[in-house]
Amino acid sequence: MSQIKFYYQDAVPLEMHKVRIVQKLRLKPVEERVRAIAEAGNNTFLLKNEDVFLDMLTDSGVNAMSDQQLSAMMVADDSYAGSTTFTKLEQKIEEIFGKKYFLPTHQGRACENILARAYVKPGDVLPMNYHFTTVKAHIGLNGGTVEELYYPEALATTSDNPFKGNMDPERLRGLIAQIGAAQIPFVRMEAGTNLIGGQPFSLANLKAVYAVCQAANIPLVLDASLLADNLYFIKVREDAYRDASIRTIAREMADHSDIIYFSARKLGHARGGGICTNSQDAYMRMRELVPVYEGFLTYGGMSVREIEAIAVGLDETMDFNMINQGPSFIAYMADELQKRGVPIVTPPGGLGCHINAMEFVSHIPQQEYPAGALAAAIYIAGGLRGMERGTLSEERLPDGGEHFSNMELVRLALPRRVFTLSQIKYAVDRLSWLHENRHLIGGLKFVEEPKVLRFFLGRLAPVSDWQQKLAIQFRADFGDSL
Ligand code: F0G
Repeated sequence: MSQIKFYYQDAVPLEMHKVRIVQKLRLKPVEERVRAIAEAGNNTFLLKNEDVFLDMLTDSGVNAMSDQQLSAMMVADDSYAGSTTFTKLEQKIEEIFGKKYFLPTHQGRACENILARAYVKPGDVLPMNYHFTTVKAHIGLNGGTVEELYYPEALATTSDNPFKGNMDPERLRGLIAQIGAAQIPFVRMEAGTNLIGGQPFSLANLKAVYAVCQAANIPLVLDASLLADNLYFIKVREDAYRDASIRTIAREMADHSDIIYFSARKLGHARGGGICTNSQDAYMRMRELVPVYEGFLTYGGMSVREIEAIAVGLDETMDFNMINQGPSFIAYMADELQKRGVPIVTPPGGLGCHINAMEFVSHIPQQEYPAGALAAAIYIAGGLRGMERGTLSEERLPDGGEHFSNMELVRLALPRRVFTLSQIKYAVDRLSWLHENRHLIGGLKFVEEPKVLRFFLGRLAPVSDWQQKLAIQFRADFGDSL
């Protein structure tokens, strides 16, 4: 069901779409890549896209759109108030999630700003299956703290647990008993748990967590940004839902959430976001913040064209043959890397392929940012742009010390329907070469360190001339190939 069978050869993930618009790519020689990463302060966020061959930084706002989405954008109804386009999205949200109130925002973190301002007061504790960088920042800005209630397997980089994104409902019950429900404004479940490798939670787990929330009268907030992957994994990994349609699974998830928010840069393959709920109280609490921070209630900072595209994109997300594309390409990439001994997070999740830097460059101490160093090395080796998801992505402790991350990962995101199988094979080849030569990779140190979300704009330098040595080895092995 999850893969089309081949008769004469091993099956590979099959694109269930054809490519009708293309963008030219350039692969710069390794010497230029060494220069480009130095100019970018060894921070892949600061690379220019023209210096990148395969951009695997993120799947945010860069998924391929469909012909249906593009054509819907042409008929968007441009009006400040009461746009027909907005009504279309509102109706689509109600059709899929069964939630009648919808608040539009310009992207996912804007939803988090509104939720945090409406709900979080100093001293509050916010239980989650795992944090995401932006939600943690907004909760912190409003005086709250995050409490992660995952099972220990969540942090096991290699595992066969199909649902590492699960929350432990007993720990949640214990926390409520300990501090009281009054200090817990909401519980947050993140679909396709980003920072532990795009790992899903099961529907059974969501139901168990929801029951605990209901008993304590605490709203459950679902971050549905990575819902598409989580829907796919529930269907293929959770026995009770093997025969259920994606729409049924989506509705059942929504029925066990009080508030749903999402980044439409991911869910719906466009750019925007929104919050939906059936609670009039929740709606009224948050509603007045939308015109202050986002825009009027019928656009929320989004262009109407994007709103049209989201409405169509949400509908397309209910198609198994659409949402299987990301996870099946990721599983292929992960399998091929594993065959060549490259340490990755298993089971493969959604969003991208996650390389375990702690093992890949085990000789680099955590204070020299192994995942950041590996991300720079991966760019040098293949022009591939990944994202550090480790200590660099953490904030410093109040005393200025490093907060060493539980995991040191480099995420190679696969924007949906963007890369072909031969491009994935190229990436596997370069990563395998780099792994063979991993002893050449060295650490990084900060040159310029911002105080908040430092991974976005921070600048670093290599601790030695290891990048030049890596380029020399590349030339020796690849000759005059780029
Ligand atoms: N929640 C999750 C689970 C996310 O992955 C993101 C963004 C957000 C919220 C914030 O949404 O970017 O629209 O403001 N993740 C991006 C990424 C940045 O690259 O993984 P946003």
